[in-house]
Amino acid sequence: MAEIKKIGIVGAGQMGCGIAQVCSLAGIDVVLNDVSRERLNAALAKIPANMDKQIKRHELTEAQRDQALTHISIAEDYKGLSDADLVIEAATENEEVKRKIFSELCKTLKPETILASNTSSISITRLASVTDRPEHFMGIHFMNPVPRMQLVELIRGIATENTTFETAKTFIAQLGKTATVSEDFPAFIVNRILLPMINEAIYTLYEGVGSVEAIDTAMRLGANHPMGPLQLADFIGLDTVLSVMQVLHEGLADSKYRPCPLLVKYVEAGWLGRKVQRGFYDYRSGTPIATR
Ligand SMILES: NC(=O)c1ccc[n+]([C@@H]2O[C@H](COP(=O)([O-])OP(=O)(O)OC[C@H]3O[C@@H](n4cnc5c(N)ncnc54)[C@H](O)[C@@H]3O)[C@@H](O)[C@H]2O)c1
Repeated sequence: MAEIKKIGIVGAGQMGCGIAQVCSLAGIDVVLNDVSRERLNAALAKIPANMDKQIKRHELTEAQRDQALTHISIAEDYKGLSDADLVIEAATENEEVKRKIFSELCKTLKPETILASNTSSISITRLASVTDRPEHFMGIHFMNPVPRMQLVELIRGIATENTTFETAKTFIAQLGKTATVSEDFPAFIVNRILLPMINEAIYTLYEGVGSVEAIDTAMRLGANHPMGPLQLADFIGLDTVLSVMQVLHEGLADSKYRPCPLLVKYVEAGWLGRKVQRGFYDYRSGTPIATR
């Protein structure tokens, strides 16, 4: 079983940065890749800023932050990831984007590198099939925000070898996280249950049953959820929520997973949630203001 000493991360958005943060704090070398130098620079600014929040919460010392940051570097092409023990893809939730990344990546990686996708919903077996190493391919699904969420779902594809699975399991333990195992079905376990609930909250808004604030307050105080479903949708990213619902709808061919037309409208408007400062709430003034 291989020890993971160096990882590559393709996609340096919310999740890629979070994964880089926890891996670097565990002493693992991390190389981040994204589509542009601007995205990489944004990640290099965001990771220390997120670590500073951990320092304020007394979860981290300044010395630990400084040490962790020495483990993080960036690569503008896949050659910089060639000697990684594990590469985790955390790019946009779009199957075509992910397929292209994996088929290109394989050309430069050492043969024993394990490949993983952080996809929220897409078939691991299908993604593995575009690579030259389906036996070394896994779903490693972190939760958002990665530094605070304890769970990681592990998903085997049809061809995943046991040594690959065991290496992934050890890697998750090395990060101090807890793994749960899901079979390779659309959206796995957490999102199979959570995302239809969020979609239903959006239908509740669409049908005028309640306002954004009424729905979120109802679920926070009435169901004891730490966050309302619309606030959570903004946090996940509405493009990701829509993609997951589309995968559930197509993959399980059941109308109960039909994405709410209002969700589609928000995504078409580019109101993707917190990451662009506007979704079901408008965050631009610093105080979230409901948009409906
Ligand atoms: N947001 C969540 O709550 C959450 C939770 C668990 C898993 N995920 C999954 O993690 C993945 C990333 O989600 P996110 O929330 O970080 O999205 P994001 O929009 O914050 O980041 C996606 C990043 O991928 C980059 N990217 C797109 N195409 C690329 C390419 N060809 N090569 C390299 N980089 C590319 C984008 O530039 C962007 O920086 C998705 O598969 C999503 O389903 C998201």
